[in-house]
Amino acid sequence: MKKKSYLMAFSLLLLSIFAFGCEQKAKTVAVPITIPEGEKDPAVWGRAYPAHYDSYLKNKERRKGYSKYRNDDEDRLSPWPFQFVLFDGWGMGIEYNEPNGHTDMLKDQLKIDATRRKAGGVCLTCKTPYAPELKEKLKVNYFSKPYDEVWKEIPEKHREMGVVCADCHDPKTMDLRINRWTLIEALKAIGKDPDKLTRQELRSLVCAQCHVTYSIPKDRDNKSAGLLFPWRNGKWGNITIEAVIKQIKDENLREWKHKVTDQKMGHIRHPEFELFSSPGSVHWAAGVACADCHMPYERVGKEKISSHRWESPLKKNMKACMQCHNQSPEWLKEQVLNIQDRVNHMFTKAGYSVARAALMIEAAEKNPRSDKAVIKKAKEIYEEAYYRNTWIGAENSMGFHNPPEALRVLGDALDQGRQAEMLAREAILKAGAAPPELDMAKIDAIVAERYKTKDGKTGFKPAVKRKAALLTQK
Ligand code: HEC
Ligand code: HEC
Ligand code: HEC
Ligand code: HEC
Repeated sequence: MKKKSYLMAFSLLLLSIFAFGCEQKAKTVAVPITIPEGEKDPAVWGRAYPAHYDSYLKNKERRKGYSKYRNDDEDRLSPWPFQFVLFDGWGMGIEYNEPNGHTDMLKDQLKIDATRRKAGGVCLTCKTPYAPELKEKLKVNYFSKPYDEVWKEIPEKHREMGVVCADCHDPKTMDLRINRWTLIEALKAIGKDPDKLTRQELRSLVCAQCHVTYSIPKDRDNKSAGLLFPWRNGKWGNITIEAVIKQIKDENLREWKHKVTDQKMGHIRHPEFELFSSPGSVHWAAGVACADCHMPYERVGKEKISSHRWESPLKKNMKACMQCHNQSPEWLKEQVLNIQDRVNHMFTKAGYSVARAALMIEAAEKNPRSDKAVIKKAKEIYEEAYYRNTWIGAENSMGFHNPPEALRVLGDALDQGRQAEMLAREAILKAGAAPPELDMAKIDAIVAERYKTKDGKTGFKPAVKRKAALLTQK
C-alpha cells in the first residue's frame, strides 16, 4: 500500500509540475490537484486538502471520559441491564460496545463476535465506501452472501477503510454529495427530491447516509435480500417511530427472534437523523445541521476549516455550540447533562417496564393453562413497546437531539410495557397460578444469573451498572 501511494504521489507531482509549467504563462497560480472520480483513498484527497486530511486523521485518536452516557470502548449493555432481556436472541445481546469512530469503524466490525455479522454482506453498507460498487457488481448476492466473502471483494489495501472523503464529497467540486443509494431511495419515498437539496440540508443528509435506522428484508430462507430505511410513512421533517413501526409491520420487516417472548421482531438502529429532524427539535426547526454541532469551524494556520474530527461536542469543550450561543461552555454542558439525565431516567424506567413485560409473558407461556389469545395480545403490545424504547436507546445522544420527542416516545414505551405486563399477569392469574415478582432488583438478579459474562468480554458486567441510576433514587 505504501509503495503504491508513493507512486501515486510521484505521478501526481509530475502531473502538477507539468500542468503548472503550461499554466504558468497565463497566471502564476498552481493548478489544483485533481482527484479522480471514484478515488477512495483519503490520502490522495489529502494532497489537495492537507488541513482537512490532518483533521480527519485525528479520528484515530480517541478522547475518553468526556461524556456521561457515551464513552469509547465501554460496554453499552451493562449500564442498563434490562437490555439483556430485550436483546436476548439478537447479536447485540451478546456484545454491544462503544464504537471507535469513523476511520476505524470497519476494523471494529471485523473484531466483533461473528454472530453479529451473520446477516451477510449487507452489514458492510455503512462501513465501506465500496458498498455502492459491490452492490452494482454482486446484485442481490451483495446482501445475502456471507460477510467475509463480500468483504474479500474489497481491494485488499482498503479492506479496513472506514468513512472516506468520497462518501460525502464530489471530487471535482468538493460539493457535498450523497453516495449511498439507500438514502436516495428513502428520500424519494418521502417525496423529497434528492436532486434539489440545499447546502444546509446536505450538511445533515451526508450524515443521514449512515446515522439512521434501517431494515434488512429477508427472503424465504431467511437470507438478507436488501436494505432500506423504513421511512415510507414519514415526511421530510417528520419521520417518527410510529411511521417506522407501521412499515415494519406492514412489510413484515422482522429480522430476528426474541427468545424471551418467543416471537419474531424487527430492529431499530441509531436513528440520529430521524429523531433530530422530527417535530420537537428546536435546533432542526431553527435550521441547524449535524455539521454545525459535530464539525465546528477551526483555525489551521491562516485557513478556517470545518473540523473533520467527528465526535461529541463535549470533547471540543462546547466550541460548536458557541458559534451560536453566547453562554459559557460550563452552562452549555450543564444543559446537555440535564437533558440527558432526564431522558436516561425515563429510558431506564421504560426499559425495565418493557423487560418486565417480556419476563411476565415468558412466565405466562410456561403455563399450559394460560389463555393463548391474551398472551398473543400481550406480545403484540410488547413489540410496540420494544421498538419505542430502542428508538431512544439506540439513538446516540441520550435524547439531546430532540428532548421532548425522546420523552414522548419513552412515555409511550413505559405505558405499553405496563399494558403488556398486565395482560400477561392476567393470563397467569386466570390459569390459577401466581405471577412472578419482578421489581427492578429482581430483574437485575435474573440478568446477572442468565447473562453472566463467560469470558470477561461478553455478557453482563455488574461493575458498570451505575448509569441505570434513576433521578428519584439518588
Ligand atoms: C458511511 C457511514 C457514515 C457517515 C456518512 C457518517 N457516519 Fe458518523 N459514524 C458512522 C459509524 C458506523 C459510526 C460508529 C463508529 C464505529 O462503528 O466504530 C459513526 C460514529 C460517529 C460519531 C461518534 C464518534 C465517536 O467519537 O465515537 C459521531 C459524532 C458521528 N459519527 C457523526 C457523524 C456526522 C456529523 C456525520 C455527517 C457529517 C457522519 N457521522 C457521517 C458512520 C457514518
Ligand atoms: C445542536 C447540536 C447538535 C446537532 C444539530 C446534532 N448533534 Fe449529535 N450530539 C450533540 C450532543 C450534545 C450530543 C451528546 C454528546 C455526549 O453525550 O457526549 C450528540 C451526540 C451525537 C452522537 C454520539 C456521539 C458519541 O460520542 O458517541 C452522534 C453519533 C451524533 N450526535 C450524530 C449526529 C447526527 C448524525 C446529527 C444530525 C442528524 C446530529 N448529531 C445533530 C449535539 C448535536
Ligand atoms: C461524513 C462526511 C464527510 C467526510 C467523510 C468528509 N467531509 Fe469534508 N466536509 C463535510 C461537510 C459537512 C463539510 C461542510 C460543507 C459545507 O459547509 O458546505 C465539509 C467541508 C469540506 C471542505 C470545504 C471547506 C470547509 O472546511 O468547510 C473541504 C475542502 C473538505 N471538506 C475536504 C474533505 C476531505 C479532504 C475529506 C477526506 C479526508 C473529507 N472532507 C471528508 C463532510 C465530510
Ligand atoms: C447553528 C446555531 C446553533 C448551534 C451550533 C447550537 N445551537 Fe442551540 N439553539 C440554536 C437556536 C437558534 C435555538 C432556538 C432558541 C434560541 O433562539 O435561542 C437553540 C436552542 C438551544 C437550547 C434550548 C432548547 C429548548 O428546548 O428551548 C439549548 C439547551 C441549546 N440550544 C443548546 C445547545 C448546545 C448544547 C449546542 C452545542 C452542542 C448548541 N445548542 C448548538 C442554535 C444553535
